[in-house]
Amino acid sequence: MNRLKILSAFMLPFACVTMLVGQSTLKINYSKSGPEIPESMYGIFFEEINHSGDGALYAELIQNRGFEEHVAISGCEYRDGYVYAPESPNYISNKLSKWRHPWYIEKLKYTAWTINQNAGEASYDVVDEDQLHPATPHSMKIEIKKAGNGSTVDLVNEGYWGVPVEKGEKYALRFYFKKNDYKGAVTARIVSTDNRVLAEKKFRIEKEGWQEYTSVLKASGTDSKGSFQLCFDAPGTVWVDYVSLFPKKTFKNRENGMRRDVAQKLADLKPAFVRWPGGCIVEGATIENRVKWKETLGDPMTRRGEWDLWNYRTTMGFGYHEFLQFCEDIGADAMFVANVGLSCRFRNGDYVDESQLPVYIQDICDAIDYAIGDVSTEWGAKRAEAGHSKPFSLKYVELGNENWGPRYTEIYSKFYNALKPKYPQIEFISTIGFGDDEARLGKVDMIDPHWYVKSDFFWENTHLFDNKERGKYKVYVGEYACNQDVGSGKMEAALSEAAFMVGMERNSDLVTMSSYAPLIENSNRRDWCTNMIWVNNEQVIGRSSYYVQQMFSLNKPDTNLKIVSLGSPLQGKVETIAGYDYQKSETVIKVVNGEGKKLDLNFKLPTSSVKAKGCIITLSANSDEDENSFENPELISPQESVFDKFAKEFTYIFAPYSLTVLRIKTSL
Ligand code: AHR
Repeated sequence: MNRLKILSAFMLPFACVTMLVGQSTLKINYSKSGPEIPESMYGIFFEEINHSGDGALYAELIQNRGFEEHVAISGCEYRDGYVYAPESPNYISNKLSKWRHPWYIEKLKYTAWTINQNAGEASYDVVDEDQLHPATPHSMKIEIKKAGNGSTVDLVNEGYWGVPVEKGEKYALRFYFKKNDYKGAVTARIVSTDNRVLAEKKFRIEKEGWQEYTSVLKASGTDSKGSFQLCFDAPGTVWVDYVSLFPKKTFKNRENGMRRDVAQKLADLKPAFVRWPGGCIVEGATIENRVKWKETLGDPMTRRGEWDLWNYRTTMGFGYHEFLQFCEDIGADAMFVANVGLSCRFRNGDYVDESQLPVYIQDICDAIDYAIGDVSTEWGAKRAEAGHSKPFSLKYVELGNENWGPRYTEIYSKFYNALKPKYPQIEFISTIGFGDDEARLGKVDMIDPHWYVKSDFFWENTHLFDNKERGKYKVYVGEYACNQDVGSGKMEAALSEAAFMVGMERNSDLVTMSSYAPLIENSNRRDWCTNMIWVNNEQVIGRSSYYVQQMFSLNKPDTNLKIVSLGSPLQGKVETIAGYDYQKSETVIKVVNGEGKKLDLNFKLPTSSVKAKGCIITLSANSDEDENSFENPELISPQESVFDKFAKEFTYIFAPYSLTVLRIKTSL
């Protein structure tokens, strides 16, 4: 830094109007705009991983509500503490797969449930006799030997790391109960951590056989880690199944809906699209373990759920219909990811015989019809029956997830050729990245490369898309994150992602869609090292990466403007991009400063009018090691300020470790 620069920086710490010798100057070229930036550019990727759905987004408060947690993975066999997948060739290696997974059946059975014997006496087991419904074949059987006169036997659910309730709020209770020689009542309770009864309802039991009981419980106190209990006060045998406790207030007050604060955090990203249901779970650990969207519809009691390859059972409560509804509620387009007859290559990798492929193709047709088909179609009619006769906003279907290799490319073409003529309005995405597989593909609308990398990779590859061939397909960067050598995430990761996003946005004629992954973790259960949003029973917080995503999404211009660099070239970890927002008549400049020192930049805006007063949004940290936490959730969060020294030529000093957006009222 020369002396003049030091002096000026000292005198005018954040802005000056005179250009300084030796500084970098960025000139916006208004006569030569770059590619348009499509509306679809920034979306979100949902997968049931880290209890992101059950225990976070999905508002159900009871864990293992159907007593099915121990049920072995579909298509697998339980033997001696393991579940074994069928021996079958892996679709990539062609070698026989012998995938197995440890299975602690006795422990899993009682996931989240315990029995308190408050001076009562009882034995209990999870059984599959006299099933309530084929989707929930198991129930809790309790043989109460002694209870009454003040002593009870209580079936207790600990929820997802507690049952959170708020004073004055209402909770919809639903459970199924059956008895034999039991003459007592059943008392449902929400109990605080210090054993206070926060809500209670006594049910008199008269009828025989499985009966449904419902009520609304109003909490008299607040506790984020309470529990739910069903209490029995007489001897006899009882069976309990499908116990559900749901806040009455959900996002947009939808039934079987979403936790308001979590859903709002997603809505605040203003995502252009939502991808569902994954991720590897689309493929399944075995082909039978794949997500079967039809099983995610209807009354949640009749949804079978399935073991999720992130190692817990999912209720599929946030199912296909809820996903489509959520997209509508937040004004996003829907992207459905479908299995194409291949299971996850890193697990069993088994696949279906070619003769089975039409079944899989038909299943995708049905999914599309359910979302957008006329009500005269079989599945369009089912959507109408579910209360939504209008079509949903399904726009994209991805054929598989992270499926690669010759078998996939062949299958992709078969699926594409069968589906595209029938649904020309849908963009069918192939899961291949850049590389060998491209050559084997026939017509493809879009490819989906993924990157989980170190920060250096993103900084070194900000120009990765510049020279990629145009015209063959569009690119959807469906999963990316800096998740290596950054622990559970820190500003270093977020800034490197911002730098990479600059490269995507600059190449928006090729990269037209992107989504960071994974989206959410319940912080009591981290299956994947870095995730964008952290949830517990009290809070929902965005990591620094969340705010990077949000800043790009909320400050997406309509078109790129070329930047010409004059004077000293930019040094170190610095990336810049400019664009124009037609509606707001604003030049939008983004600068990522990955360096630990301030960055002085001159700007030239050779356009007829530049208004002095504009807006600056800064996301910065004192150290690139910093990260938000439940204690300090907004340590790194965007700060918006008014700036009144914009001009045809101006200087701005960018904070160390920052992403900054300048919004300047200008002509084009
Ligand atoms: O985002 C986590 C996992 O990463 C996804 O399930 C998979 O597609 C990728 O390998």
